[in-house]
Amino acid sequence: MEYIVKSGTPEKQRSGCIVVGVFETRKLSTVAGQIDRVSGDAISTILRRGDLDGKSGQTLLLHNIPNLPSERVLLVGCGKEKEFSESRYREVTAKAVGALKDTGATEVTSYLTELEVKGRDIAWKIRQAVEVTESSLYRFDRMKSKPNNGKRALRRIVLAVPKRSDLPTGEQAIKEGQAVAGGVALARDLGNLPGNICTPTYLAEQAVELGKQYGLKTTVLEKEEMEKLGMGALLSVSRGSRQPPKLIVLEYHGAAEGEAPVVLVGKGLTFDAGGISIKPAANMDEMKYDMCGGASVLGAIKAAAELKLALNIVGIVPSSENLPDGDANKPGDIVTSMSGQTVEVLNTDAEGRLILSDALTYAERYKPAVVIDIATLTGACVIALGAHASGLLANNDQLAREILTAGKYTYDRAWQLPLWDDYQKQLDSNFADMANIGGREGGTITAACFLSRYTKQYKWAHLDVAGTAWKTGKEKGATGRPVPLLTQLLINRANKAEDGDKE
Ligand code: BES
Ligand code: MN
Ligand code: ZN
Repeated sequence: MEYIVKSGTPEKQRSGCIVVGVFETRKLSTVAGQIDRVSGDAISTILRRGDLDGKSGQTLLLHNIPNLPSERVLLVGCGKEKEFSESRYREVTAKAVGALKDTGATEVTSYLTELEVKGRDIAWKIRQAVEVTESSLYRFDRMKSKPNNGKRALRRIVLAVPKRSDLPTGEQAIKEGQAVAGGVALARDLGNLPGNICTPTYLAEQAVELGKQYGLKTTVLEKEEMEKLGMGALLSVSRGSRQPPKLIVLEYHGAAEGEAPVVLVGKGLTFDAGGISIKPAANMDEMKYDMCGGASVLGAIKAAAELKLALNIVGIVPSSENLPDGDANKPGDIVTSMSGQTVEVLNTDAEGRLILSDALTYAERYKPAVVIDIATLTGACVIALGAHASGLLANNDQLAREILTAGKYTYDRAWQLPLWDDYQKQLDSNFADMANIGGREGGTITAACFLSRYTKQYKWAHLDVAGTAWKTGKEKGATGRPVPLLTQLLINRANKAEDGDKE
């Protein structure tokens, strides 16, 4: 989709469709009011007939409004004006896109960007408009034998800004929105692909492809190299699988050689059957999404490279399957991780932390500024926070705040849980340095406690995206989260570095 920004009143635009908001009950937004006036009350007359009262998400398509050079007007219900919020803004934007894609309009002009969202400026509204639009238009039909090739007319979206002086800001916001959307789409595609196609080898190939596209340094460590490095935890998980494990490393260099990188570590478990501690059959298909953390690392790096951020970034994706097999991990097995610490595998389904532990130790060699890992790690996180917030745990409060802020700005929110020492003893083992499970209580926290034993050398945060990386049910599909959060964090860091240079 092509996006451009424009300033100017609606009666001057020659567009396939002008999109404006209407609040409850039949209260015209500023721009809807302007159209009403030039058209001799055409809008208010129609509303009085009762076709739309402004409830959030309602839409009404009008044709041939008098004195308006545009072909159509789309009225979008925005709910009560007092309740208009960030989430409403996103909702009505998505609704508008849904209504527009069924029309014949090829070019539309949206004035929803001029609705007041408390605390948010035009840059935020344009960014969100692009991201929400791209997300609403996303389809995953490459596995259908007959891809839905219904033609879509919509080609170009003009986003209105209030003043001419807003145009450069708006253009930058479009660029960022498109970069984030591109990263989100990549993460969604990889997530939605089935486990028989998206294997560790496939993930590695995609990373190499991404590297070629953006001039990144890509390294894929094979089983033999992992053996040399002593990655006994990662290797133990993959032993039950016919697919070879991969440790994928991507390096983006946007800053000076010596500058410490942000290291992103993503769980790339391409199918999690649980291993010998096998999962129940219901919804097990969704465990193809167990690589979404890894996919989000590729997505965020793609977005950062697209924006040419002045930052060094390293992405590390340990990738494996977790299946039952005669050679698989057995409950009670003890494995030795690359760090030298030994782990009693009391439940083979707690495999994410095993593959991450070696990747987190491997991260040390990059002398990172910070390390953030992203993982669909615990069902307990879905119980605690549902699908709205990713779980956040960190050994550094400033980094935690930075992540919370980036998540708020992008509406890809995280919520912090405690990483107190009190929880650590739940991991005690009679036979090894630690067990890989900590009991039913505080499952998300004890999983992070496990990881914390491998991250003492640097500032570290952990995002548990088990509830946010994909949707279940009728709308089953990857969400691409937390690519928006991660990209925003990288943008903020790059901007800060730039300000520092000027000082
Ligand atoms: N990939 C799962 C976590 C998961 C489960 C995410 C359900 C989303 C929905 C992870 O590998 C896992 O199986 N975790 C176990 C840990 C337990 C054995 C301590 C879990 O959460 O049940
Ligand atoms: Mn598991
Ligand atoms: Zn898993």
